[in-house]
Amino acid sequence: MKVLIVGGGGREHALGWAVSKSPELSALYTAPGNGGTAVLGENPPIDPADIESLVGFAKENSVDLTIVGPEAPLVAGIVDRFTGEGLRCFGPSALAARLEGSKVFAKQFMRRHGIPTADFEIFDDPDAAERFLDKKAPPLVVKADGLAAGKGVIVAQSREEASNAIHGIMREKKFGASGDRIVIESCLEGEEASIHAICSGEKALMLPPSQDHKRIHDGDRGPNTGGMGAYAPVPRLKDAEVSLILETVVKPTLQGMEMEGTPFKGLLYAGLMLTSEGPKVLEFNVRFGDPETQAVVPLIADDLLNVLYNASSDELQEGIAIHGDRAAATVVVASAGYPGSYEKGFVIEGLAAVDDEDRVVFHAGTAEKEGRLVTSGGRVFAVTAWAPGLEQALARAYDGIEKTRFEGAYWRKDIGYRAVQGTI
Ligand code: AMP
Ligand code: GLY
Repeated sequence: MKVLIVGGGGREHALGWAVSKSPELSALYTAPGNGGTAVLGENPPIDPADIESLVGFAKENSVDLTIVGPEAPLVAGIVDRFTGEGLRCFGPSALAARLEGSKVFAKQFMRRHGIPTADFEIFDDPDAAERFLDKKAPPLVVKADGLAAGKGVIVAQSREEASNAIHGIMREKKFGASGDRIVIESCLEGEEASIHAICSGEKALMLPPSQDHKRIHDGDRGPNTGGMGAYAPVPRLKDAEVSLILETVVKPTLQGMEMEGTPFKGLLYAGLMLTSEGPKVLEFNVRFGDPETQAVVPLIADDLLNVLYNASSDELQEGIAIHGDRAAATVVVASAGYPGSYEKGFVIEGLAAVDDEDRVVFHAGTAEKEGRLVTSGGRVFAVTAWAPGLEQALARAYDGIEKTRFEGAYWRKDIGYRAVQGTI
C-alpha cells in the first residue's frame, strides 16, 4: 500500500513510524515531512495548504491512502477534494471538521446533543459581550470562534482580563475573521486529559488517554507552546472511565453528526476536563494531537495502517485499543527562545544513539544541510520511550535526551509530574 502523510511535525513522523511497521506498506511519502520522515520514505516538498498539488501527487503516484496531520487543510476541505477524485483519505469532511474549525458550531452542537461541556454564551457584538461581564463573575474563558493556531483561548481570572480578551479578539482582530464571533464560557476545574478516537460514522476505536504539557517551563508555567511533552495512558482513566467517555462524549458526538447529515470519519480528539461532575469537553479537534500522538502510537498493538485504512472505508473494528501494561512518555527538545523568536541551523548530534527497542526520536523542526542534520524549527525533536510503568518510561526518555546535543537545546524536566505525583 502506498501512503501519503500530510504535514511535517513530530505527529507526522510518529504516524509514519507507526504505519511503517505494517507489512502492507510499500511506499511512504510525507509532504513536506522533516529530517526524520526522510529516513522512512520520500518527502515531496508540497505545502499542506496546497490541496490541488497534493491531489495531483496522490494521483500521479497511485497513493492508496492519504493521512492528514494538521487541522487547516481539513477545515479547508482536503478530504472532500480527495474523495471527489476517488482517492481514499483519512480525515473528516469540511462540514464535519467544523467541530474544530468553529468553536461556536462545536458548543451549539454539544448543547443540541446533550454532550457535557461548560455553560456558555455566544456573541457577535463586542458591546454585548462586554455587557455580559456585568452579569457573570470571573473566572471566565473567552474563545475566538475560528482557528487561531492554539492562541485563541484566554482563561480570564478578572473582569479586566476578560474585557481585554474581548477587545483583542473582536476589535483589534488579533486572529482576523476567526474573531468575528466569540464564545464566553464558565471556567471548569479539574485535571485535563485528551482522548483520541479513530472514528467512522457511528463506530469508534478508543486509543489510550493522554495528557500534554502546553507551557514552556516546569510546573506548567510561562507562555503556551505547541506542546513540550506528553504521556499516556492517564492513570486515573482506567478502561471503565474510558468506556464512560465513549458513552457520554464520543458516541453522542458521532450519533449527532450522523443525525445532522455530516457523518464524522477520521480522528476525533476530545480535550476533557475531569470535573467532580464527570468528564466535560473543553474542545474538539478533528486530527491527531501533537505531541500526544507521539506518546500514544507506541501503545497501539494493532496495525495502525490497517486500522486507518479500514476506518476510511466503514470497516473499522470498534472498541478500546489494548495497551496492556505499557506507559509511554514524550519529551520535546526545543530551540533556545521558543515559543518566541529563535535561531535555526544548529548542527544536531547524538540522535543515532537514542533509538532502541523501547525508545525512538521523532523529528519536528529538523532538516538536512550539506549532509548534516540541523535545527529548522522551534520544537526540534522529541524523545519517546515506553516501559511497563510511566516512571521508567520517563527515565528512559530523559536518558535518551542526554545523548543528544545542539546549541541552545531546551527541554522541560518535569513531564508527567502530575501522574507521577498521583494527582491524575
Ligand atoms: P481549548 O483550545 O478550548 O482546549 O482551550 C485551551 C486550553 O484552555 C485548555 O487546554 C484549557 O487549559 C483551557 N480551557 C479552555 N476552556 C476552559 C474552561 N471552560 N475552563 C477551564 N479551562 C479551559
Ligand atoms: N496538543 C494539543 C493539540 O494537538 O491540539
